Amino acid sequence: MHPHKQDWFNESKLCMFIHYGLYSQIGRGEWTQFYDKMPHEEVEALARTFDPKNFDAEELVLLAKNAGFRYACLTSRHHEGFCLFDSKVSDFTSVKYMGRDLLREFVEACRKHDMKVAVYYSLLDWRYKGYFDYQKHPESKASMVQQAFDQVREILTNYGKIDYLWFDGGWYEGVPGGAIRGKLLSEFWDSPRLLEMIYSLQPDILVNDRTGEPGDVTTPEQQTGASGDERYSEACMTIGDRQGWGFIQNNNLRPFPFILQNIIVQLSFGGNFNLNIGPMADGSLRDGERQLLTQLGSWMEKNSESVYGTGRAPAGVISVMGEFTTKGNDLYWHIFRWPHRGEAILSGLRKKVTRVTLLASGKEYPFEQQAYGRLIVKDIPLLAPDAVDTVFKIECTDEPTPADPGTYGIL
Ligand code: GLC
Repeated sequence: MHPHKQDWFNESKLCMFIHYGLYSQIGRGEWTQFYDKMPHEEVEALARTFDPKNFDAEELVLLAKNAGFRYACLTSRHHEGFCLFDSKVSDFTSVKYMGRDLLREFVEACRKHDMKVAVYYSLLDWRYKGYFDYQKHPESKASMVQQAFDQVREILTNYGKIDYLWFDGGWYEGVPGGAIRGKLLSEFWDSPRLLEMIYSLQPDILVNDRTGEPGDVTTPEQQTGASGDERYSEACMTIGDRQGWGFIQNNNLRPFPFILQNIIVQLSFGGNFNLNIGPMADGSLRDGERQLLTQLGSWMEKNSESVYGTGRAPAGVISVMGEFTTKGNDLYWHIFRWPHRGEAILSGLRKKVTRVTLLASGKEYPFEQQAYGRLIVKDIPLLAPDAVDTVFKIECTDEPTPADPGTYGIL
């Protein structure tokens, strides 16, 4: 399956991931039922107490938009099997238990606020014995696979245009080597046929790499990374401790510099970034998560030109002070570690620089270009204009730069 390309994806760059489900009531993350070996009756009881009274999709989407995200992704059904959407093939849904189609509220809020729609769907479902031992329970395994086909069809038929289908849970207990990608999984889920159905229903949709097939988007998790091929790469990361995709009481939120600098590193690979939040039981968000989103929004307000629609750092350009993104001939220098000698130096830039400005203010700075693609930006402030990521916009043309005098300077 050749990867699909959609211009909106590279333009958007930033996604807000929302993990919300029955598990949000427990406060120990979305795997609690598995780790605690909760009997299904207890899980079903969670469905009866689930009360998303403060789950306000429009508020979450506006939080995402104001933070600079351009698409958002809601867990429509996680490994626990509980659907946040209406399904004819399951009674274990938010519609049947509390009369709310949370996925519909989410997609409508996204479209109202011009956000692209991504939907997370877990292929596996812990309610099926066939997940835990598909050889011993072949019928259960078959009905779990059928549920996936039926529910993906429902999501792609009943909820309007879905821009990106974010699969997860494409493995099964006992899969050799604990694989979470690859041919074995593709056979288990009959993924080529699943993808054929998906693209027949929504030809422009993007699909990630977690059905066992490569899909259109690689999804490095809790780390940054390029796709290594012509597919998109989208790194996903929790806003707090590693285990906390779903709400975890008292989990430590990551510091803002860690979040922003990981976003920029991922963009320097030419990739996208998917930052996860985990609403609490009633659907509301912790203040700490709101604050981090607000901090990101403030930074994006002045620097989004160095994010949206950018490409990977140009080969050979190096600086220990930070990372690079590009747009056409222009280079955005993201400086995380501000130099205290009144000048900033990079090397390897083989384009003629015509102008250097501080992106946030437009203030112009003198500069000098030397051999080895060396660029020295001069008279810069002693203190970093932005303590986390100060961006210089370096406007360039394709004209040649000063020739290198033979061997490298110090050799
Ligand atoms: C892992 C976790 C899953 C989470 C996903 C997000 O697969 O097991 O719970 O939804 O990462 O990428």
